[in-house]
Amino acid sequence: MKRIAIFASGNGSNAENVINYFQQHRCGGEVALVICNKPDAAVLDRAARLGVDAVVMPRAEINDPDKLLPVLDEYGVDVIVLAGFLLMVPGFLIESYRNRIVNIHPSLLPKYGGKGMYGRHIHEAVVAAGERETGITVHFVSEGCDEGEVIFQASVPVAEDDTPADVEAKIHELERLHFPRVIRETFID
Ligand code: GAR
Repeated sequence: MKRIAIFASGNGSNAENVINYFQQHRCGGEVALVICNKPDAAVLDRAARLGVDAVVMPRAEINDPDKLLPVLDEYGVDVIVLAGFLLMVPGFLIESYRNRIVNIHPSLLPKYGGKGMYGRHIHEAVVAAGERETGITVHFVSEGCDEGEVIFQASVPVAEDDTPADVEAKIHELERLHFPRVIRETFID
């Protein structure tokens, strides 16, 4: 059984979807743990409701190998999934889990990636630029922000009158459809 830790910072719709998927498909993977850097994040309620342990670790603890690595060891974590995790991943974690950390990014990287490009900011930029297409990217996490090897992309049309909220809804639907399966195919099958 591959044990997955999800790192998240906020709402947690992707975290919930991934937890549900691995609880429903007995496929050799399970979400063992959620790590969250915000004590009031909705993802913590979702994890509790689904019976998954969650640990709140502020940024300073996530950046401290002596704090983070023992927690991952205690839970026997094999792979890490970033799902709406808004902090930079510390270098020691990338080294310890080389090619075992994936992120979902709500744009067609390399477009709309890098510092400051997250969540609604991306959808606002996509609409402002008049893009007729956007999408999601699942990629390995490397030292450069949003620069790791791409594993999977899916796109969706942007209508002329779409608002950033409309685009966000389309993106969440793409994420819901694809993210758990891509994690499974990357690490488990
Ligand atoms: C998701 O759309 C995810 O792709 C994005 O934040 C949202 C989190 O939603 N991640 C990034 O922008 C990372 N740069 P959620 O908390 O409901 O899963």
